[in-house]
Amino acid sequence: ALPEAVTIYEVGPRDGLQNEKAVVPVEVKAEMVTRLLDAGLPIIEATSFVHPKWVPQLADAAELMGLLIDRIGDAARRMPVLVPNEKGLDRALDLGLEHIAVFGSATETFATKNLNRSYDEQFAMFEPTFARAKAAGMTVRGYLSMCFGDPWEGGVEIDAVVRAGVRLLDLGADELSLGDTIGVATAGHVQAMVAAFADAGVGPERLAMHFHDTYGQALANTLAAMQVGITTFDASAGGLGGCPYAKSATGNLATEDLLWMLKGLGVGTGVDLDKVVETSVFMADALGKTPASAVARALAGQ
Ligand code: HMG
Ligand code: MG
Repeated sequence: ALPEAVTIYEVGPRDGLQNEKAVVPVEVKAEMVTRLLDAGLPIIEATSFVHPKWVPQLADAAELMGLLIDRIGDAARRMPVLVPNEKGLDRALDLGLEHIAVFGSATETFATKNLNRSYDEQFAMFEPTFARAKAAGMTVRGYLSMCFGDPWEGGVEIDAVVRAGVRLLDLGADELSLGDTIGVATAGHVQAMVAAFADAGVGPERLAMHFHDTYGQALANTLAAMQVGITTFDASAGGLGGCPYAKSATGNLATEDLLWMLKGLGVGTGVDLDKVVETSVFMADALGKTPASAVARALAGQ
């Protein structure tokens, strides 16, 4: 049976824009975020407090959050931001933000490339970040990358993913988002992953799925995940996105593609499809391209 409703966790302003060659003006980012909010998206990850040299596209994180707080107040403070370490946490605390997302890797190679830390060192970096965020009353999402395959290491054992995920949960993660960073997952693999977490005592209500559509499998994977109880899905308006430190990571599952499928299935989201499409077209224009999302192209006649 499918769930009656699911939560869409919008990552376009963060996962989408971090990978665009063009640096988008902060005003345009603020417009994107407020349009997505107006479309009814319940959670919008707005930006990243990472090192600006590592992700120059999001170097304006503090400026963007300041603008949003001026315009929409607490709704902006409720938007999660990506934070890798205590320095990032301090930047989020300075602005009074309430939710952060810490991002780890299931593999050694990607921990090095994305965080400049070994696999074990990443958890050492996260530990005080979690402890201080929790003490400040924040919620902390844990992302785990390369859960279904790694461009350098190849296949990734399900048991290794469960071990890494449990470490993030033990540090205090309120939710664990399993990233198919390079989009190689297939439906059976997704269901086996959910079953392995359940065997380790982690039920589907504590998991979210973060699919990239590189191999065109993201919707099939979403349906397979819903069949085994997952009810939170990350998606990016227009299918923007990828990861600058992962070879071959293309766009995320597009929010409007996900909405089209969910609408057809009668699964509720509270999100206005037409407004998401309008936002995707607005952003595609700002970036000088056509949307990667098939649904946006179909509905907007592009
Ligand atoms: P590092 O060079 O090892 O940093 O980078 P460090 O701890 O040695 O510090 C060096 C300098 O950086 C210091 O400044 C720090 O203050 C500063 P100095 O004393 O030399 O003047 N610094 C910072 N400045 C601003 N904000 C910070 C920060 N931290 C340190 N937060 C670091 C380590 C983690 C910082 C770096 O590797 C980094 O920023 N990585 C981010 C990479 C990234 O953002 N990747 C994309 C997001 S992950 C993703 O997309 C996957 C996901 O979507 C799921 C999926 O699809 O799989 C989530
Ligand atoms: Mg991603």
